[in-house]
Amino acid sequence: MHLLHIDSSARTAGSLTRQLSAEYVAAWQAKHPQGTVTHRDVARDTPNLVSTDWITGVFGPAEAHTAESKEAVEASEVLIREVEAADVLVLGVPTYNFGVPASFKAWIDQVCMAGRTFAYDENGPRGLLSGKKVVVVRSSGSDFGTPASAPMDFYGPYLRGVLGFLGITDVEFIAVHGNTPEQIEAAVRKGSVAIAASLSAAA
Ligand SMILES: Cc1cc2nc3c(=O)[nH]c(=O)nc-3n(C[C@H](O)[C@H](O)[C@H](O)COP(=O)(O)O)c2cc1C
Repeated sequence: MHLLHIDSSARTAGSLTRQLSAEYVAAWQAKHPQGTVTHRDVARDTPNLVSTDWITGVFGPAEAHTAESKEAVEASEVLIREVEAADVLVLGVPTYNFGVPASFKAWIDQVCMAGRTFAYDENGPRGLLSGKKVVVVRSSGSDFGTPASAPMDFYGPYLRGVLGFLGITDVEFIAVHGNTPEQIEAAVRKGSVAIAASLSAAA
């Protein structure tokens, strides 16, 4: 078993997603002593943005490819191969302005590659990364679990949608929220309980 752990909080000290995603990974390792882990920090080592070179490399004809376009595609390939190698992905992703952090969106944009991680056939789009489990550790200041917050929640539907587009439909959200020290303490407790429940339910 191999686990890919991604962090995307811009902060290191006090980050709920970093703390809880690390807790998940440590508990997973205790349960899978032979398991291996790759850690990627997209806040510290931010993936490229989609560029002209990348578009040329992915969509352009072979004769249009350049050294730069090949390099741009190879940078994506590194990230895609990390996903392909994983049975389980643990994604630590804060809520920034009702969506995911830009660094994490950059990672998504690098991993979504036509003909590589998704394809279209006569039945429409087909994700090529099936057979993986994803655990998203989400944190926010306010509670996005209420019906009233749904119209402004672009994070949950987006992430579930784009992962499904890639063929990843086994997606679990461990969502915590809080602003005050008391709320954050409660968020850590809630997250720990959810992590234990997730791992005891998993095969
Ligand atoms: C730039 C920025 C934007 C944020 N936007 C939102 C938001 O739209 N909704 C919300 O409830 N909380 C928002 N927050 C609060 C964070 O989601 C919350 O503090 C979360 O715990 C951050 O993740 P971390 O603890 O892993 O760093 C924002 C925080 C920052 C720094």
